[in-house]
Amino acid sequence: MSQSTFLVIGATGKTGRRIVQRLQAQGEAVRAVSRGSAPAFDWEQPEHWLPALSGIEVAYISYYPDLAAPGSQEAIAELIRQAKTAGVRKLVLLSGRGEQNAERCEQLVRDSGLAFTLIRASWFYQNFSEGHLLESVNSGLVALPAGEVREPFVDVDDIADVAVAAMRDDRHNGELYEVTGPRLLTFHEAVAEIAAVTGKPLQYVPITLAQFHAGLTASVDAPTADLLTSLCEEVFDGRNEALADGVGRALGRPPLDFGAFCRDRAAAGVWRATAAPAVNP
Ligand SMILES: NC(=O)c1ccc[n+]([C@@H]2O[C@H](COP(=O)([O-])OP(=O)(O)OC[C@H]3O[C@@H](n4cnc5c(N)ncnc54)[C@H](OP(=O)(O)O)[C@@H]3O)[C@@H](O)[C@H]2O)c1
Repeated sequence: MSQSTFLVIGATGKTGRRIVQRLQAQGEAVRAVSRGSAPAFDWEQPEHWLPALSGIEVAYISYYPDLAAPGSQEAIAELIRQAKTAGVRKLVLLSGRGEQNAERCEQLVRDSGLAFTLIRASWFYQNFSEGHLLESVNSGLVALPAGEVREPFVDVDDIADVAVAAMRDDRHNGELYEVTGPRLLTFHEAVAEIAAVTGKPLQYVPITLAQFHAGLTASVDAPTADLLTSLCEEVFDGRNEALADGVGRALGRPPLDFGAFCRDRAAAGVWRATAAPAVNP
């Protein structure tokens, strides 16, 4: 196995992929892992984690499915134990804003005795363009149990920039960076901005948690439907209705704006209309 300084867990995901690209562009030796890599890294198989951790100095951790999920604390505790055995010096953890279980995982990293940086992110812009909402956007209807709550959506490119800075520079050690975009937006407003750049009909419909859960059971397994519903219940109560300065503090520049993201993604053609919108979610 080649010598790598940096480990990226979740390397094919929205954050991991961008972090690997940035580190490689800066000439760093990166071990990019997920279930299909060699060595492989599967959160369900802790007995096979050591080869991924061996020889690594700094590890970026993107947990799957979500730090709010049952079992995340046990997994992070075990990862810390194995990272210490393997001689890893520093951990950079991607966390979720307003999630109690995620904050417990952050505390495990704080208490690990290793150097660390915590990146606590709000909802990603890219959920609309490469995540679970892409299909909804393309169908013309985004239905969520989010009412008119305002989210401080954040660009994954900002998260990747903060993560890479934290991985490469020890001045970020011990920091908690709460990363948000520069504007609070309701889902109505976010979806209207996407519609404005695509010129295609797109509606946001607030639904109840029960309707959301029922809709999910058609497409995902029961534990995933439960997890996504409880996540929405936890974070869409207004607790995240505030901007944070993590991007500015970490990078010395303002966060990227949602409008620029919309224009860029529309120009790239990611939002193309598919089926006519179903009015009843
Ligand atoms: N989306 C948001 O708005 C948001 C906001 C705040 C925080 N977060 C956090 O972001 C994290 C997700 O990060 P992301 O968006 O970068 O990832 P993502 O785009 O959802 O991709 C998931 C990554 O996890 C890997 N993966 C899936 N199942 C796995 C398993 N059993 N074991 C190991 N790896 C597995 C996937 O790779 P393979 O399929 O190749 O294995 C992929 O690299 C979660 O922890 C979530 O809490 C998300």
